[in-house]
Amino acid sequence: MARETWGTRIGFILAAVGSAIGLGNIWRFPFQVSQEGGAAFMVMYLAFIILIGFPAMLAEFVVGRKTELNTVGAIRDFAGGYWQYLGGLFVFIGFVILSYYSVIGGWVLRYILGSVTGGYAATESAAAYFGMVATGTDTLIAHAVFMLLVIGIVALGIQQGIELGVKVMVPAILAIFGILAVYAFTLPGAGEAYAYYLSPDIGYIMQNWQSLVPAAAGQGFFTLSLGMGVMITYASYLGDDKNLGIDGISIVVLNTSVSILTGLVVFPILFSAGVDPATSGPGAIFVSIAEAVLDLPFGRVVGLLFFLTVAIAALSSAISLIEVVVSYAIDEFGMDRVKATVIAGVAIFILGVPVTMNTVFINLYDILAAQILLVLGGVLLMVLVSWLHAGEAIEELEQGIGDLGSIGSLWIWMVRVPVILVLLVSLYLGVTGYID
Ligand code: PFF
Ligand code: NA
Repeated sequence: MARETWGTRIGFILAAVGSAIGLGNIWRFPFQVSQEGGAAFMVMYLAFIILIGFPAMLAEFVVGRKTELNTVGAIRDFAGGYWQYLGGLFVFIGFVILSYYSVIGGWVLRYILGSVTGGYAATESAAAYFGMVATGTDTLIAHAVFMLLVIGIVALGIQQGIELGVKVMVPAILAIFGILAVYAFTLPGAGEAYAYYLSPDIGYIMQNWQSLVPAAAGQGFFTLSLGMGVMITYASYLGDDKNLGIDGISIVVLNTSVSILTGLVVFPILFSAGVDPATSGPGAIFVSIAEAVLDLPFGRVVGLLFFLTVAIAALSSAISLIEVVVSYAIDEFGMDRVKATVIAGVAIFILGVPVTMNTVFINLYDILAAQILLVLGGVLLMVLVSWLHAGEAIEELEQGIGDLGSIGSLWIWMVRVPVILVLLVSLYLGVTGYID
């Protein structure tokens, strides 16, 4: 059977955007901002997205498109030798991330339900409702339902499953978040929130760079779906006539817009409700939206639309995470798609069970995956592409663009020195920070 491909170019871009935009922007981003000092984090994060995320994304694209293989096969084909184990690391990271990602996805499903039934409006406070959703048996059930949705879509295959969902999601997110940002702007706490979110304190950056750097690098990789072979896998379904540079820029710009917009919604609401962002943690988005919804006209409808869109965003990212595992099983073991998806899905579900019982595990899995494993995966792949196979990488990037001249070397040198250096420093700080 011929290997699957994307139906259209826009299908690929949307799928990659769908992978990028997700709980990383909507759930993870606001609490990273809060934990790392607000606007100070923003500065570092935006710099990393442009200077590190974009060049790293191109590196993943070229490996995938050149080899037209799953991430394990791609790296083996591209580099050979011991490098093939890097692909194995990517598959492992996919398991870990999806296992807790799906639990948060389950929270979102419960909030959809809560919007319909009026659950969070009936509870004494938005924070109390979040406490009920975060752990317990119902959380476990919601995690199972989320994984079943992921399995169902991925089992349908590339074109019917993945491509379709994202065509609805991206426009919907931008529209709903746009409306909510306008609402948030009218709140009494808006001014204070914007200052917190958007005007950086340079002194804070100087004093706290040891935690800012790994947090911003980790968030940059997480949000752009880098460091674990998603972009390798997705680019492997792509033709040679496409301009990877333009695709990469579209993905980075759309993804960053959603994150910034999320902050414009969340922080004014938290400040107006008197919630200190620094203490809100992983519940920030859920608590703040539920708060907002309570005093908006048609609040529950807005809440419903909001959480539905977040669920689609989470699904389109979850799909890309499991697709790394599934494409590996299909290409390497000739397994059939449905069987591969079910086996992977069940294993991931089990790995996520502890997370449904105690939120401590979210922090544990999340820091391990985002601040350590993704950065480790990223730095190894960057060494491979930029130091060991630069010529082939540039040649592949030029397919669909034309002669890059000195821009090609600029890209390779960006990856060779600044990107790798920042990732190594982040990895060191991330590991030492994790230990104590
Ligand atoms: N980028 C996704 C998000 O921001 O929600 C999450 C993610 C997907 C991370 C795929 C890593 C990945 F490989
Ligand atoms: Na994202």
